[in-house]
Amino acid sequence: MQWPKYVQLKEVGPRDGLQNEKTWVPTADKVAWINKLSDSGVKEIEYSSFVHPKWIPALSDAREVGRKIKRNPNVFYSALVPNVKGLQHALETGIDGASIFMSASETHNRKNINKSIADTYPVLGEVLHEAKQANKRVTGYVSTVFDCPFEGKVTPEQVVRVCERLFENGADEISLGDTIGSAVPSQVEQLLEAVLSHFPEDKIIMHFHNTRGMAIANIMTSLQYGVSRFDCSVGGLGGCPYAPGAAGNVATNDVLYLLHGLGIDTGIQENKIQEAALFIQNKLQKELPSKSLAYAVSGKGS
Ligand code: HMG
Ligand code: MG
Repeated sequence: MQWPKYVQLKEVGPRDGLQNEKTWVPTADKVAWINKLSDSGVKEIEYSSFVHPKWIPALSDAREVGRKIKRNPNVFYSALVPNVKGLQHALETGIDGASIFMSASETHNRKNINKSIADTYPVLGEVLHEAKQANKRVTGYVSTVFDCPFEGKVTPEQVVRVCERLFENGADEISLGDTIGSAVPSQVEQLLEAVLSHFPEDKIIMHFHNTRGMAIANIMTSLQYGVSRFDCSVGGLGGCPYAPGAAGNVATNDVLYLLHGLGIDTGIQENKIQEAALFIQNKLQKELPSKSLAYAVSGKGS
C-alpha cells in the first residue's frame, strides 16, 4: 500500500472536545491550552463555537477566547458557526475560516439546529455568502453520515445530496462526521465509493468519533481511499450533546502514533500533544480515553 507522504490533521479539541463538558473550563485555561496546541506543529485548530450560549454553555466565552489566544502565523484558526449572527461574532473576534454544520438525517438536524434540512440550506447559504465576502474559507460539516441516533442507517445517497448542496453554495471542503462513532470500515468504503465518485478527495475530510473504538480502523480505510485529512481531538476529549451516547473524537495522540508509525509526516510533535492532553486532563480532573496517552503516562512510554 502506498501511503500519503503527509496527512493534515485539524485539532478540534477546543470546540468538539469541550462542547459536551459539564465542568466549566475557565477562559484563561482554555487560552493557555490552545496556545500549547498552537505550539505543537498542528496546522489548524477549531478554537471555539459561536452558537447560542444557551445551547452550548461550555463555549459561551468564544469571543473572549478568540481575542486572547496568541495567534501563531503557521496555524489556521477556525470556529464553528450556525448562522450569520454566529459568523459576525466570529469575524469580529478573528477567524481564518468558518465551519458550518448540518446533518444528513432529518431528525438529528432538527435536534441539533432546530430546523429541517430544507430550511437549513438558505441559512447556511447566507453564511457562505457572507464568509466569501470576507474572504474566509468555509468548511461544511455533514453529521450522521453513517448512522443517525434517532433514525438508524443513513444512505450514501443522502450524504452525497447534502454535500452537493453545500458545494453548490460555495463550501470549500466537506468534513464527513461519524457523529455517534458507529461506522465499521465496510461502511466507510461504501460511503467513500459514493462520495469520491462525485467530489475530489482533497476536498474531503473525515471526522470520526471513537464511541466503539473503530475510529483508527476507519482512518486506515480512508487512507486507502486516498483521503489525507482528518479531524481529531487531543486525548480523545469530546462528544455531541445532541447525539445521545456519542463519545469523543478519535484522539490526536492515537492518530499521531498510527501515522508516524506508518512513516507519514504530520508536522506535529507527539510530545507537545501529550503535554496539551495532560494539561486539559488535569483541568477537567478526569482521565481522557486516548490509549497512547495512558501508555505514555504509565511510565512505559518515552
Ligand atoms: P434557534 O433557537 O432556532 O435560533 O436556534 P433562532 O434563530 O430562532 O434565534 C433564537 C435566539 O437565539 C435569538 O435571540 C437569536 O438572536 C439567538 P433572542 O432574539 O431570542 O434574544 N441566536 C444566537 N445567539 C448567539 N449566537 C448565535 C445565535 N443564533 C441565534 N449564533 C441555533 C438555532 C442554530 C442557533 C441553535 O440551534 C444552536 O445554537 N445550535 C447549536 C447546536 C450545537 O452547537 N451542536 C453541537 C455542534 S455540531 C457537532 O458537534 C457535530 C460535528 O462535530 C460533526 C459531527 O461530529 O458529526 C460538527
Ligand atoms: Mg463531532
